Amino acid sequence: MKLLILLLPALFLTANGCLRIFGKTATCACKTLKMDKSNIEENEVKDNALYDMILRTAMKAPEMLIDDCSVHVYCEGRTELYIFDTDKGAKTGVSALNASCDPYQQKWQLDLGNGIEQYKELKAVCVFKGTEHKCLTTNPTTILFAYSNDLDYIEVEDMYTWFEGPITYNEEDKYYEMAIARFDTKTKEDIAFFQNITLLENYQSAHDHMNKLKVDPSLSFDSSETGSDVLDMLERYIDSGNPLVCGSRAVILMKRSPNEVEISKIVRKIRQYHIELIFAVEDPSSGGLHPETLYNLAAKTNGFCSFSSELIWAIATLPQITNPYIHYSLNVKVSGTGTMVLPSITLKKRMTLVFYLAVQSTATTTSFQNFTIRYVNTNEFSNSYGRIREDHLKPGSYDGYETSLNSFRTVYFLLNAEASTYDMNLEYGYSMEDTILFRLTSNEPINDWMPFQD
Ligand SMILES: *[C@@H]1O[C@H](CO)[C@@H](O)[C@H](O)[C@H]1NC(C)=O
Ligand SMILES: *[C@@H]1O[C@H](CO)[C@@H](O)[C@H](O)[C@H]1NC(C)=O
Ligand SMILES: *[C@@H]1O[C@H](CO)[C@@H](O)[C@H](O)[C@H]1NC(C)=O
Repeated sequence: MKLLILLLPALFLTANGCLRIFGKTATCACKTLKMDKSNIEENEVKDNALYDMILRTAMKAPEMLIDDCSVHVYCEGRTELYIFDTDKGAKTGVSALNASCDPYQQKWQLDLGNGIEQYKELKAVCVFKGTEHKCLTTNPTTILFAYSNDLDYIEVEDMYTWFEGPITYNEEDKYYEMAIARFDTKTKEDIAFFQNITLLENYQSAHDHMNKLKVDPSLSFDSSETGSDVLDMLERYIDSGNPLVCGSRAVILMKRSPNEVEISKIVRKIRQYHIELIFAVEDPSSGGLHPETLYNLAAKTNGFCSFSSELIWAIATLPQITNPYIHYSLNVKVSGTGTMVLPSITLKKRMTLVFYLAVQSTATTTSFQNFTIRYVNTNEFSNSYGRIREDHLKPGSYDGYETSLNSFRTVYFLLNAEASTYDMNLEYGYSMEDTILFRLTSNEPINDWMPFQD
C-alpha cells in the first residue's frame, strides 16, 4: 500500500504540470541541458559508445519548452533527438519527446517505448540524419601503410611495391590519399599524409618519404619484453584530424606483439571511423606478449589478421585494395567438431566475391584441424571450399589459393557469381576453442557498412 502512494505523484505529473499533496506545493527542479558542438565535449558521458558516436556527427541544439514539471524537447529540420544522462543515453528515433519531473526525487520520467525510465539530468542534442557514421562506404579515403621498425627494410619496401600494380591500374575512386607510419620506436613519430592529385602520385611521394625513413635499429625498444605500440599509433592516426581518415584501409606490418589485452577503447574508436584493419604479422615475433590481441581487434572491427613466416604470404591472404567493399563479414566461435548454418548472402547483381578465411588467432596454436564451407543458391547452383590442417603448414600460392600460417584466400568460391540468394553452411574440426574470421569482398560498391560483432 505504501508503495502505491509513493508511485502516485509520478503518475499525476504526466497529467497535471503542478502537484498538490496534503496541501503543499512541491517544486520541480530537474536539470536539463541543450547540447551542441560548443558544449558536448565538456559534458562527456564516460564509456558510452552512443556518446562517442554522436561526438563526431553534425548536430545542433534542440528546443525545450519547460512548463513547471514538464518539458517538451524537440528537434527541427532533418534531425533526430538523442538524449543522455550522466551515465547513459538513448537514440529516441523521433524528433520530439515529453518528460515530466518527479519533484520528490528530482528526476525526469520519460517513456521511449520500453516503459518509464528515469533521467537524473536530461541532456538533449539533435543529430542530422545520415551523419551518424561520419562517412559513407564510397567516400574518398586513405590507405595507411604502417610498419614496425623491427622489420627489415627490404621486406617493408617489397610489401609496399606489391601495391604498385593495383594502385597504377586502380579504377576505383575510393582510395585517394596515402599515409605512412613507422612504429615500435622509442620516440613516437608523426604520421605523414600525402594528398596531391592522384592516388598514384600520392603513392610515389609516400614511397620517397619512406625511402628516407627506412628502419633505424638504434631507435628500437631495448627489451623484447616491451610490447608493440601499434595501438597507440592507430589512435594517433585517427586523432590526426585528417578528414580522409574515416573509412580508410590500414595495412599494418607487424613484427612485435602488443602487450595490451584490454582493447575496448581502441575498438570503439576504430568502429566509429570504420577503419578496416589489415594485419600482416611476421612470425616469430621480436617481442611483446599477445599476438592474439591483433586478431581479436580485427575480429571486432570487420578486419583481418594473417600470420606468416614471410610477410608476402601474409599479404597474399589479406583483402586487396582492388576489392574495397566488404559484402559479408562473420566471426564464428568454434570448438570441437560441428556443422552450422551461416547467414545467407543475397547478390542483387552478378559479381565476383573474393573469399578470405582466417582459421585461428595465432600462428602457433594447433587448434585448427579442418573446415569446409558450402553454398547452394536459389537456382540450385552449388560450390564448396575446404582445407585441412596440413594445407597451411606450407604457406604459399597454389592454383589460385593463397595460404598463410592461419588464413586462406581464393577467388574460386564465388567467381562471377549470378544474382541469387546463397545459403551457406560450415563444417569444422577444432581441438581447442577459436574464432573463424570469414570475409567476402568485391569491387562492387555496397551502401551500408557491415554491422560489428563482439
Ligand atoms: C508533448 O507536449 C506538447 C507541448 O506541451 C504537446 O503539444 C504534445 O501534445 C505532447 N505530446 C505528447 C505525446 O504527449
Ligand atoms: C603535387 O603534384 C604536382 C604535379 O605533379 C607537383 O608539382 C607538386 O609539387 C605536388 N605537391 C605536393 C605538395 O607534393
Ligand atoms: C576434421 O577434423 C575432425 C576432428 O579432428 C575429424 O574428426 C574429421 O574427420 C576431420 N574431417 C576431415 C574431412 O578431415
